[in-house]
Amino acid sequence: MRSVSDKFYVATDDGSKGRKGLVTDVLKEILDKMSEKINIVFAIGPVLMMRAVAELTRQHEIKTVVSLNPIMVDGTGMCGACRVEVGGTTKFACVDGPDFDAHQVDFDLLMKRQKMFLQEEERARECWHKCRGECK
Ligand code: FES
Repeated sequence: MRSVSDKFYVATDDGSKGRKGLVTDVLKEILDKMSEKINIVFAIGPVLMMRAVAELTRQHEIKTVVSLNPIMVDGTGMCGACRVEVGGTTKFACVDGPDFDAHQVDFDLLMKRQKMFLQEEERARECWHKCRGECK
């Protein structure tokens, strides 16, 4: 990324690389100063982060692209896990994306969908920890 970027900023949760903090902390500082026009922002990572970036860049009317790889499971268009509403239309990240206009993605619905199987996931995690795969 550094080799193809005019400016390159790094932020990590623990400060082990670059600045300690959120990507949006750094981005907000850049956008608040904004001495130069920013043409486009790419956000790739956790859905929560991509949503926060999209909300921030929307205020500044900066085109933003998010990569919805993190919501993909089988990547074949078969499982439906990556279903997302973009501009009011149902899309599948693995076959229609994974890159989308961030300001068109319905992140509220996406995050709601990601919590659909939270209880089952928690139960499976507890089972794995307790039984090391021997539970039924
Ligand atoms: S990842 Fe399964 S349908 Fe897209």
